[in-house]
Amino acid sequence: MKTLFAKPVRLTPIHRYAVKCVIHCFALGYVGWVFYRGVNDALGADPVEALLNTSGITALNLLLVSLAISPLAQRLPCGDLIKFRRLIGIYAFFYAILHMLTYISFELQLQWSLIVEELTKRPYIIVGVIALNILLALTVTSPMSIRRKMGKNWQRLHYLVYPALFLTLLHYTWSLKTGWQDPVFYWLGAILIFISRKAVLTRLNVKSFGFKGK
Ligand code: HEM
Repeated sequence: MKTLFAKPVRLTPIHRYAVKCVIHCFALGYVGWVFYRGVNDALGADPVEALLNTSGITALNLLLVSLAISPLAQRLPCGDLIKFRRLIGIYAFFYAILHMLTYISFELQLQWSLIVEELTKRPYIIVGVIALNILLALTVTSPMSIRRKMGKNWQRLHYLVYPALFLTLLHYTWSLKTGWQDPVFYWLGAILIFISRKAVLTRLNVKSFGFKGK
């Protein structure tokens, strides 16, 4: 089944602008809402833990949504969905940065020796740092002007979003002291997205590993 519906939906520039405004409002509004709850002492018994969890989960959710857009745009009669992928990916990075800043400023109290120790010695933190650096590289190279300059290398670099997702899920699962149900749902979602991007797998086979996919 190539498309779920027959009639294609075309978005005009005004529609696209409106959708982007909605994405900005939700992404920034949520930060404002969490901040508001923070200053009003409404984040629960451990506000730093609440901030860390909220920012980490939101970053992961946005990363998954940005990756789900391509398979959805291929199957739904609205290819224009792809126009929002970059913005959502950038917000995933934005939340990941907030998550990291929460950790080093509130949890580690900006003690530089402690920060260096934590970021280099605790395995699940190291995994998070690597994922964050990949997201940084993808965000910095996301503007169209850089994409054009990089040519084919741009796509090769941007395939790193899959290792970034895998590392994030590993970081998440590893960070939990108890319970595995929530990460399992995320792993399943990620596998589903990866399978639905069969084309990506085939291209990876052909270009990077030198053997042909069937
Ligand atoms: C410098 C990089 C990073 C640092 C220092 C870091 C730090 C942490 C810490 C300390 C926790 C455990 C919180 C707790 O005790 O409950 C955590 C959990 C988590 N992190 Fe990160 N992280 C980093 C990168 C990332 C990135 C890039 C993502 C997503 C894109 C991410 C998503 C998560 C998620 C989903 C959790 C689990 C939250 C929960 O239990 O609900 N982290 N992180």
